Amino acid sequence: MPLSCSGLSVAYGPRLALNAFDLTLGKGEIRVLIGPNGSGKSTALHALAGLIAPSGGEVSVGGRAVASFSRRDLAKRLSFLPQQPAAPDEMTVEQLVRQGRFAHVGLFRSYSARDVEAVRWALDSTGLTGLAERNLRELSGGERQRAWISAALAQEAEILLLDEPTSFLDIGHQVEVLDLICRLSRERRVTIVMAIHDLNQAMSVCDRISLLDKGERVFDGVPADLAASGLIERIFNVRGRFVTIADTRAPHFDVELARH
Ligand SMILES: Nc1ncnc2c1ncn2[C@@H]1O[C@H](COP(=O)(O)OP(=O)(O)O)[C@@H](O)[C@H]1O
Ligand SMILES: [Mg+2]
Repeated sequence: MPLSCSGLSVAYGPRLALNAFDLTLGKGEIRVLIGPNGSGKSTALHALAGLIAPSGGEVSVGGRAVASFSRRDLAKRLSFLPQQPAAPDEMTVEQLVRQGRFAHVGLFRSYSARDVEAVRWALDSTGLTGLAERNLRELSGGERQRAWISAALAQEAEILLLDEPTSFLDIGHQVEVLDLICRLSRERRVTIVMAIHDLNQAMSVCDRISLLDKGERVFDGVPADLAASGLIERIFNVRGRFVTIADTRAPHFDVELARH
């Protein structure tokens, strides 16, 4: 399902955290948002998810204004995983993942075979089948993060918004989650917007990349053009160089550390 916003602005009090942000994604596209801390990535994702009323501009989900959907109807189309989701401790992994189905289960309907299958698939895709009965408070940070990703998957929405989904994961599980995201885009044509800190992971997983700085979108395009722009060095205040590693299509940023 296509997703777009134009002129999207968000203010917290007198301060503008996002200024006239534009984004257009086709079905199945993966867009990554990068930018320094506080540049507006989470704000942009919350506004795209319809969770913050913008002070200007609009978000369109499948051609319809995000604000015009009921919560349940929006949840069938769009799933959002915030940076620091909060859940009650007394809940098992499977109970959390089942909550992802709320949009599909009617008020007077119990779980169908379809719901059970979606939960099974979501647990399996995130490697959590063996931990399904475990309480959330008995999980490591990375396992809990995967439980949340699993709940977002169980929703089976056509649009997935993820705020730093790999941040607490070890490198093996980071790769697992990024591979899963690529598969969702390729095989299920899920449209994905994701904030991510690791620049090289961002460039290798995305179709296009948007760079934010102080609430402004300062770049929007393919990784090769970002590499050529010189913006990474300037915006993040680092020195380094882009290299092309054989076998990968994406450029790779080799950061230069100060020598002691
Ligand atoms: N709820 C809030 N109230 C006030 N200011 C906020 C709030 N959330 C974020 N901000 C501010 O908005 C700016 C953008 O924040 P955020 O979108 O979280 O950035 P990022 O996700 O890129 O780190 C920052 O200056 C941050 O301090
Ligand atoms: Mg953030």
